[in-house]
Amino acid sequence: MPEAVRTAIVGTGNRAQLFTEGLAKRDGYEVVALCDPNSVRMAFHNRMLLAAGRHTAHQWPPARFEEMLKVERIGLLVVTSIDATHNQYIEAALRAGVRVISEKPMTTDAVKAQGILDVVEETGGSLSVAYNYRFNPVHRRVCELLAEGAIGDIHSIHFEWLLDVSHGADYFRRWHRDKANSGGLMVHKASHHFDLVNWWLGAEPRIVYGQGQLAFYGPGHRHGYARDYSRVNGSAEAVDDPFALHLARNTTLRELYLEAEAEDGYYRDRNVFAPGVSIEDDMALLVSYDSGATMTYHLTAYSPAEGYRVMFNGSAGRLELHVEESTFTMPHHRVESAKGWVHGDVAAPTAGRTSITLRPLWKPPVDHTVDHDHAGHGGADARVLAALLDDDPTDGADIADARQAALALVTGLAANRSFETGLPVRTADLLKL
Ligand SMILES: NC(=O)c1ccc[n+]([C@@H]2O[C@H](COP(=O)([O-])OP(=O)(O)OC[C@H]3O[C@@H](n4cnc5c(N)ncnc54)[C@H](O)[C@@H]3O)[C@@H](O)[C@H]2O)c1
Repeated sequence: MPEAVRTAIVGTGNRAQLFTEGLAKRDGYEVVALCDPNSVRMAFHNRMLLAAGRHTAHQWPPARFEEMLKVERIGLLVVTSIDATHNQYIEAALRAGVRVISEKPMTTDAVKAQGILDVVEETGGSLSVAYNYRFNPVHRRVCELLAEGAIGDIHSIHFEWLLDVSHGADYFRRWHRDKANSGGLMVHKASHHFDLVNWWLGAEPRIVYGQGQLAFYGPGHRHGYARDYSRVNGSAEAVDDPFALHLARNTTLRELYLEAEAEDGYYRDRNVFAPGVSIEDDMALLVSYDSGATMTYHLTAYSPAEGYRVMFNGSAGRLELHVEESTFTMPHHRVESAKGWVHGDVAAPTAGRTSITLRPLWKPPVDHTVDHDHAGHGGADARVLAALLDDDPTDGADIADARQAALALVTGLAANRSFETGLPVRTADLLKL
């Protein structure tokens, strides 16, 4: 038997659970090291390993990351730390000859993205970025239909994504609310959507113009929802606040965050209307692609329900994708037992419909809907893990490499620049791709 791949995970928070669990289930891997500034969160992941019948991993602080790679003889690094820190770990691991799997987004700004691309080229190393949305069967079906020429040449796309007042609000409770950490929702969230469009069209973004605003969350709005407290835990004002996330009510949230916060002051339950928000919650873009196609795109993070619509207009017809993730969102304070809480699962209990409608010219519409699993990002999480760890892309989707991950990122980077300058931005002025 070949030795199991000695694996390290850097950033042992919520998302890392997918990898800790997935790696522990696979004989070909052994998680030997965890790296995070917070020892309580590392201990949580070690309990997961023990529960899966595995040995615990050594716990390392970020300052000793490079030493960890050597001492632990790491063959695979999984990067699930906060977005702005990805680049330092990706680059150090590639330079040490270690294979890297990173969560999206690859990084948060153009300088860091170029740095990663340069190190990939210099080392010839292997970097995979977990753009899981490609692995959702609904998205795969859209890709097949477009590739078969169902609507001919694609001239334009109209794309609207709605995040509700549970999931959307979550980006305003913690580190994402600071653009320096997350790159804002154009980078942190919309890079998923821009990756899908690049993949669906087989095209690359060239020019981006956008306008973004903080219309709903943060201080100073007149809609009457804002309460005067800084964080939920221990605040009387938060008890009946529909936006309040109660960490103490859920075992995972309590153990990962509430019981860990004394070490680093990371509060997971901030008031979404409290000061300190530097990201937008309402963003509109116009993007042009090298294929000649254009896209109008809108992301809203304060919607009553969650879901998305993508309309493709082509020379032979039109394709309409409509995914309703929830029909309404429950107020958080009504959710008494948040068992297995993940974004939306509890506060948005009403899974909606999915439809793919092909409207060929001069013919009646045809329904191409496929079953949509609403858990784990439409079933995509399990599939992306199989593709990353078992080389098993059963549904034919590819894992994004460094260049594709940079292309997914660059639309959002250009949007952020356009928000600042009020001008259209050429992606070639941001990254050498
Ligand atoms: N693909 C997806 O659908 C998906 C879903 C959720 C999150 N993510 C990604 O996963 C990553 C983690 O998100 P999360 O929701 O688990 O956040 P989280 O806050 O739960 O976890 C982040 C972890 O990073 C650690 N950390 C902070 N500073 C660090 C540093 N300097 N070095 C190392 N670790 C540090 C924190 O202590 C924490 O344990 C993000 O990049 C996010 O974009 C991807």
